[in-house]
Amino acid sequence: MSVQKYSLPPLPYPYDALEPAISKQIMELHHSKHHATYVTNLNAALAKYSSAITSCDVPDQIQLQSAIRFNGGGHINHSLFWENLAPQNSSDTKLATAAPSLSAKITETFGGEQQFREKFTAALLGIQGSGWGWLVKVEGATKEPRLAIVTTKDQDPIVGPGEVPVFGIDLWEHAYYLQYLNGKAAYIENIWTVINWKTAEERFKGSRSDAFKVLKASL
Ligand SMILES: [Fe+2]
Repeated sequence: MSVQKYSLPPLPYPYDALEPAISKQIMELHHSKHHATYVTNLNAALAKYSSAITSCDVPDQIQLQSAIRFNGGGHINHSLFWENLAPQNSSDTKLATAAPSLSAKITETFGGEQQFREKFTAALLGIQGSGWGWLVKVEGATKEPRLAIVTTKDQDPIVGPGEVPVFGIDLWEHAYYLQYLNGKAAYIENIWTVINWKTAEERFKGSRSDAFKVLKASL
């Protein structure tokens, strides 16, 4: 059985486009090395999984699930992350004008942009080890969608039923250490200046499959 392979999606901007918030060196390594490795390892795991399905080898199918979760999560998370960042001077980085619907929901849920940032920042600083922070739209069967700040460990992605990842922030050391050293709080402070609220608005208003279309595009 042949398996479709994922490829590394191109960045939607040059490697130096997010400076000074995130250095060119970090972006280049993060995208061309770290993300590329997740893609390579995901493809290898999926090929083995396909063989294990063909040969009805359930032990191998189970054994491969952690590699698919880790590397598939890495591919999902980084694909979403690149798209939810934008250069500081872009109009897309202004919450009120680039994301009017999401901005209203943030105010309704958290009291305002500043309160939201403070709560999100506290959640990010509370991550132990490597992980991610996400703003998630949670859709219920009958209720109006709500917003939640969620942290995930390692490369666990936001894929639960009814969950739409609106935007994510990478809190692995590889995302900031070369520039900020142990200054995790300064990295978080600066990454707020490069959040692409236009993309966040589109994900907030869209469906789960809309948010993940970037993955289909990498096949
Ligand atoms: Fe990363």
